[in-house]
Amino acid sequence: MSTSAVPWWRDAVIYQVYIRSFADGNGDGVGDIAGIRSRLPYLKWLGVDAVWINPWYRSPMADHGYDVADYREIDPLFGTLEEAERLIEEAHAHGIRVIPDIVPNHTSDRHAWFRAALAAGPGSPERERYVFRQGRGPDGAEPPNDWVSCFGGPAWTRLPDGEWYLHLFAPEQPDLNWQHPEVRAEFESILRFWFARGVDGFRIDVAHGLIKHPELPDLPPPLEEKGPRRHLDHPHWDRDEVHDIYRSWRRVADEFPGDRSFVAEAWADTPERLAAYVRADGLHTAFNFDFLMSSWDAKDLRAVIDDSLSMLGAVGAPATWVLSNHDVVRHPSRYGRKTARRWTVNEPYRAEGPLDLELGTLRARAAALLMLALPGGAYVYQGEELGLPEVEDLPESVLQDPVWERSGHADRGRDGCRVPIPWSGSSPPYGFSPDGARGEPWLPQPAAWAGRGMAEQRGDEHSMLELYRAALRLRREHPALGDGDLTWLDAPAGVLVFGREPGFVCAVNLSAEGYRLPAHTSLLLASGPVEDGVLAPDHAAWLAV
Ligand code: GLC
Repeated sequence: MSTSAVPWWRDAVIYQVYIRSFADGNGDGVGDIAGIRSRLPYLKWLGVDAVWINPWYRSPMADHGYDVADYREIDPLFGTLEEAERLIEEAHAHGIRVIPDIVPNHTSDRHAWFRAALAAGPGSPERERYVFRQGRGPDGAEPPNDWVSCFGGPAWTRLPDGEWYLHLFAPEQPDLNWQHPEVRAEFESILRFWFARGVDGFRIDVAHGLIKHPELPDLPPPLEEKGPRRHLDHPHWDRDEVHDIYRSWRRVADEFPGDRSFVAEAWADTPERLAAYVRADGLHTAFNFDFLMSSWDAKDLRAVIDDSLSMLGAVGAPATWVLSNHDVVRHPSRYGRKTARRWTVNEPYRAEGPLDLELGTLRARAAALLMLALPGGAYVYQGEELGLPEVEDLPESVLQDPVWERSGHADRGRDGCRVPIPWSGSSPPYGFSPDGARGEPWLPQPAAWAGRGMAEQRGDEHSMLELYRAALRLRREHPALGDGDLTWLDAPAGVLVFGREPGFVCAVNLSAEGYRLPAHTSLLLASGPVEDGVLAPDHAAWLAV
């Protein structure tokens, strides 16, 4: 871990480990801590600075760990607390930082607090830690308001005793009441528990959802589709009071030696609203979902980059760029489609229209060079470095995401980006599970992944893996990359060209014509062959100037 003057989190490349699907150490078909430990040398070889690990806490797994029953225990499916401690130590020995996920918006319905709330009944202090209300209408048979669950259906469930409780996600994920001092104190204590065990920070799940309007009013009418983006005063998303919570979390982080840092999963209406999360006395960074949601279009991307850099720059925070994660369609499958429809938080992208995966992969290669050349930090979602596409043909019988059931089978959910990743070999489990494993991978892996794992891509200079590795190495070595500024250079429509000091230029051709690269002393890296100084459509290049 470097000791340079720039704090590590300002320009770290953070690798997202979706623990169920990364590597299975004990052969039960589900990824685990033992699996992560065994793959640390790979992550070091790849050249990432940190890992973000999706929730590993004790959980009934109604939402694959985002329903936490005990925040101080590891789920037995993934291992033990002792193994987690060893993983943190070993990762540090490899120069890799560790960032677990923390889930503060809701607990599991099996959490001791929720069980106590159910047992204690209406009007009890135990219920005040959650959001319990009487219903509307005769006999209170209607939900207290019209809020909807992000997974489909109403955000309220009624109990046999007549009260309703709020869950912005599945009914197994009751929302906590963040106006309650015990809720605040408990989470600060959980943060200290893990900071004391050496974690370097946290990814904060649904960071924009914790505070609800005290009167729980109905939803406002939606904004018109057209017209500039603006902030909508919403009864449960992105309320101003949420920042108080993060100011105290920052103080907790600052109690510990070393640079501990937070990254918010916050979906905000505008870049200004996002920037409000990342202040000197607030969180360190926030995911920049505008970049991920942008279509493969030079104008759109440039606008997103400019807005993000200027809003975050104004508060002194670095940008973080992300192309894929465990909640969205993998980007080679997004970029391989014509649909340029802009998607929103409430209407996630769903694959539509025919897929040209070759084109999507070409663009994914170029997008990687764009993302890794931008000022700030970046996230790489496991398997992205292999160029994995979304698995779109999982049989309905294997789908597990609660979205599938909750949407009445209208939405297949997020399993297609969560399939266990291939490490080696020509048949499942492709090295994901050890030889002679007793369990099959928890989601079936496609036949098309034969020969496309780490082992096969390693050493093949044309592979996605070697492109990522070369880019990460250059990024570490080149003084212009990482934290800092960029300057846009003149370029024809559809081409993005920017310079970074000293002596670096990144060019991305999103147009349909070849683009003659500007004068340069050498071609550092390109996403594909560059002939006679011409960058082909859907290609990117890094130049020394
Ligand atoms: C976040 C997570 C997602 C989870 C949800 C509820 O959006 O990224 O996977 O389902 O929160 O915790």
